[in-house]
Amino acid sequence: MTEVDRSRLRALMERERAAFAERHPRSRELFERARGSLLGGVPMTWMLEWAGGFPVFMAEASGARVSDVDGHTYVDLCLGDTGAMTGHSPPEAVTRLAERLAHGITTMLPTEDSIWVGEELTRRFGLSQWQFTLTATDANRFAIRIAREITGRPRILVFNHCYHGTVDETFITLSPEGKPHAREGNGGPPVDPTLTSRVVEFNDIEAVGDALEAEDVACVLTEPALTNIGIVLPEPGFHDALRELTRRTGTLLMIDETHTISAGPGGYTAAHGLQPDVLTIGKPIGSGVPGGAFGVTEDVGDRMFARTDADYQDVGGIGGTLAGNALSVAAMRVTLERVLTEEAYRRMIPLAERFTEGVERVIAERAAPWHVTRLGCRAEYLFQPNPPRNGGEAAARKDPELDTFIHLYLLNRGILMTPFHNMALMSPATTEADVDRHTEAFAGAAAELM
Ligand SMILES: Cc1ncc(COP(=O)(O)O)c(C=O)c1O
Repeated sequence: MTEVDRSRLRALMERERAAFAERHPRSRELFERARGSLLGGVPMTWMLEWAGGFPVFMAEASGARVSDVDGHTYVDLCLGDTGAMTGHSPPEAVTRLAERLAHGITTMLPTEDSIWVGEELTRRFGLSQWQFTLTATDANRFAIRIAREITGRPRILVFNHCYHGTVDETFITLSPEGKPHAREGNGGPPVDPTLTSRVVEFNDIEAVGDALEAEDVACVLTEPALTNIGIVLPEPGFHDALRELTRRTGTLLMIDETHTISAGPGGYTAAHGLQPDVLTIGKPIGSGVPGGAFGVTEDVGDRMFARTDADYQDVGGIGGTLAGNALSVAAMRVTLERVLTEEAYRRMIPLAERFTEGVERVIAERAAPWHVTRLGCRAEYLFQPNPPRNGGEAAARKDPELDTFIHLYLLNRGILMTPFHNMALMSPATTEADVDRHTEAFAGAAAELM
């Protein structure tokens, strides 16, 4: 296998940084100005994650393209880190949303669209009762509260290096010795997460069994495949065993499909016949307009409303003034009805296959110790030789230096990858030429590095 020469990598990084600064004077100017009024010079500090020293300021985004204020246009494989998996401003959504915008946005009253969306989510995912939020984070937060409320159990179980949004209970990881502790960088936690949560490795069904044995865990919250530490796929039999163990111990199984909706119109759940008690989702289901949802089985719904002491109508800890507003549910409706359709997936998934094949070809040609994994229309490469079995393995083998380099190298060649990892997403507007442009640039980077 060919290793990357680190001193060469650093020299290339310097070259790319200089090129980036030179190509983006207007973005730099706006960033400097923004520092006067915005924390860190950005509207959300996450945007500082972009490689290059400052983010490019977006001027326009349409379909699978983003243009910046310096006049550069990018093939967007980041797609708002999944928030724009629909492509930017899909025309069907723009038309429908313009109508909605002109006729009332938020009223604290339901609209008929919400029923359509609930029925469609049932058709896609199987669960029968739905609620809306504005984010996937909120969907997870509320669903966890409900799980604790109806089971009377204090804890939740998550997998090492999971990500489910800014949900306090989930910021727990395992040390290399297997000891649970607050996730590194966890800012201002309300309580030590080891008091609220247990954490085990993904694919370790024995550890799940041990964690659930005391029957004090309200729910297991997991993505069907981890997607936030690279992609970690479940091993054969893992989900069956997880379902069996959660049922046996009276623990609710909560599946977060926010990213894994890449697997198909009904996410990984429908594609693989999972049977969660609760399902959460957000990000792409509103074509970029904030919208999230959680669905529960009839049994969970009955148990919720059987508890007369729980306040679901006012200040009981579940809710949001703008949640379920007319614009948000109209966006979810048009997205599910017209944009993220079965037909769209029939185009998106082969594009991700093409992406994966291209990257695999480059890896093979260079004998690079890297690999690429695909989950429906989502693909991700990791700079490590074999697919990790769990989050701990994936985190231990991360190569942040190389990750930053590849992001910047691609950015300088007109390709946006998500800044958090090496993820590429295909939208209904993405083309084969877009995918090939990435393959070509990736090949260029590999040739320069090796
Ligand atoms: C699996 C998963 N769930 C939930 C979230 C939270 O989404 P949001 O930040 O839109 O609330 C994320 C965000 O990356 C996610 O990856």
